[in-house]
Amino acid sequence: MTTIPQRLVGRIALVTGGASGQGLEHTRRLAQEGAHVHFADINAEVGKKAEAELTAEGLKVTFHTLDVSKLDQWEALAAELDRAEGRLDILVNNAGILVDVLPAEESTEAAWNKTIDVNQKSIFLSLKTMVPLLKKSKHASVVNTSSIFGLVGADGYLSYVASKGAVTIMTKSAAVSYGRYGIRVNSIHPGYIDTQMLRDEFAELGEGAEEATIATIPMGRLAGPEEISPAVAFLASDDASYISGAELLIDGALLA
Ligand code: NAI
Repeated sequence: MTTIPQRLVGRIALVTGGASGQGLEHTRRLAQEGAHVHFADINAEVGKKAEAELTAEGLKVTFHTLDVSKLDQWEALAAELDRAEGRLDILVNNAGILVDVLPAEESTEAAWNKTIDVNQKSIFLSLKTMVPLLKKSKHASVVNTSSIFGLVGADGYLSYVASKGAVTIMTKSAAVSYGRYGIRVNSIHPGYIDTQMLRDEFAELGEGAEEATIATIPMGRLAGPEEISPAVAFLASDDASYISGAELLIDGALLA
């Protein structure tokens, strides 16, 4: 068994979309490395269950209900964190959605707006509300979840690609803006990760989609969400103290 390093002892973290999928594993891993992880999700029922499960594992976690596309909810969470902790060391913007996998002419304006609100506007709202707290940290790190489809185009789902491309470039801009405060900002770019999002995508694409996708991956398999979290913990830690504005691909060599 690999030993989990203890790089985040005493750190205060916030993970969005933390109730399930990759976000749940990021929450677990950051807490295993010693952080107190505040994790937030739109799904309060699943979030509360995750909080009980992680607490039973002996981890220090606190669940908050948050729709990342709503400014008032970000403001309320920032005020709560300020009162409770007085600062924020680690911000992981993981929440994201894939509304449909249709080409533009078959998709809808509503799908476009929802995707941009949740995947892209959320990055702006998180910075708007959390930078004052990150400025109070001596170890501030932001990790934004983009995608391989924030770097290259894809067949269909134009809204998703647009939103993830924005996450990539907003990450770099934030790294430039906040470098002077010692706040590092990086993006991760997962390939195909076995979560509910991908299962829903395969279901929408129909029979054979999973096999066809796997055939494009040089490593010949999907990743588990727990294979992404160690990279998030690394970027959040002082081991990455001079890494900012970087794009970290975690894709089994898909884009190589
Ligand atoms: P998932 O669908 O399994 O989990 C997403 C989580 O975000 C859920 O807990 C959901 O309740 C929450 N969420 C959705 N809308 C929200 C909102 N408005 N406010 C707060 N929370 C919200 O998906 P997965 O795979 O864990 O995705 C995590 C991130 O990784 C997303 O940003 C996704 O776009 C990205 N990604 C996923 C890949 C994959 O193959 N699964 C590949 C590359 C990137």
